[in-house]
Amino acid sequence: MEKICVIGSLNMDLVVNVCEMPKKGQTLIGSKFREIPGGKGGNQAVAASRLGGDVYMIGKVGNDGFGESLLKQLKADNVNTKYVQVEEGPSGVALITVDENAENAIVVSPGANFKLTETDIDKCIDAIKESATVVIQLETPIDTIKYALEKSKELGKFTILNPAPAVKLSDDIIKNVDLLTPNETELEILSGVSINCEDDIKKAANVMIEKGVKQLIVTLGSKGSLYLDKDTMEFKKSYKVDAVDTTAAGDSYTGALSVALSQNKSIDEAMEFASKVGALCVTKVGAQTSIPNLYDIENYKF
Ligand code: RIB
Repeated sequence: MEKICVIGSLNMDLVVNVCEMPKKGQTLIGSKFREIPGGKGGNQAVAASRLGGDVYMIGKVGNDGFGESLLKQLKADNVNTKYVQVEEGPSGVALITVDENAENAIVVSPGANFKLTETDIDKCIDAIKESATVVIQLETPIDTIKYALEKSKELGKFTILNPAPAVKLSDDIIKNVDLLTPNETELEILSGVSINCEDDIKKAANVMIEKGVKQLIVTLGSKGSLYLDKDTMEFKKSYKVDAVDTTAAGDSYTGALSVALSQNKSIDEAMEFASKVGALCVTKVGAQTSIPNLYDIENYKF
């Protein structure tokens, strides 16, 4: 089986449910508090592994209890943690509130994630060499991401960038991305095109394609997802489910895509699979607590 290397963040998510999002200056009483392993990188690695991928994780945790728990969960999910380093200091933490509409608001304190350097990528280069696909997000230092993408392309790997949380990216980064998986807001930020309709998505995607991205899959939440390359555009509708928490839906979607594409599935098949995974993910609370495995996908009545 072709390997997948996920490079990115590991956070402990501190989650509270609220009736509605707090306003500026407001104190709210929420309900149950939960500590749930997360981080966009960790979530994508766990998703890929639960869905049948052979996965390496490159990242950093702190030498605290959260770091231990994050590593333990990755190992329990059969993610290869040989290249997850433990750093002096705190692990990444995400403060998450989830409202009654299943929407979330997230603030991340990056901790050890921001200590991942270009030298660390060199130290972990064997994980990239052994993998066919490299998956990256934007919760680690941008210079490290740029370097990791450059190295991955030099080594002939297929690169997937999930541009979350979105920031403007330099052309040097974008040119090394084979598949970009933004949501509409992220695509707006990356392209500078404001998006109000499907034509705007096309315009924004073309901006990215002109900068060197080969393919885009734009996730549209409960509406579905849209594939675009320089010649084609294909829409895939989403599966309707009762959503309780959208945390990690995008991560599990990207993780699922990486597995399906590394198994040489067509874009259409990969999007179909990832849509099911994203849909099932929102039916449960939390990040790594909500990511389905292959059995869940095969046995759910969509
Ligand atoms: O995408 C969801 C993730 O974003 C959470 O698990 C949180 O840790 C933040 O990284």
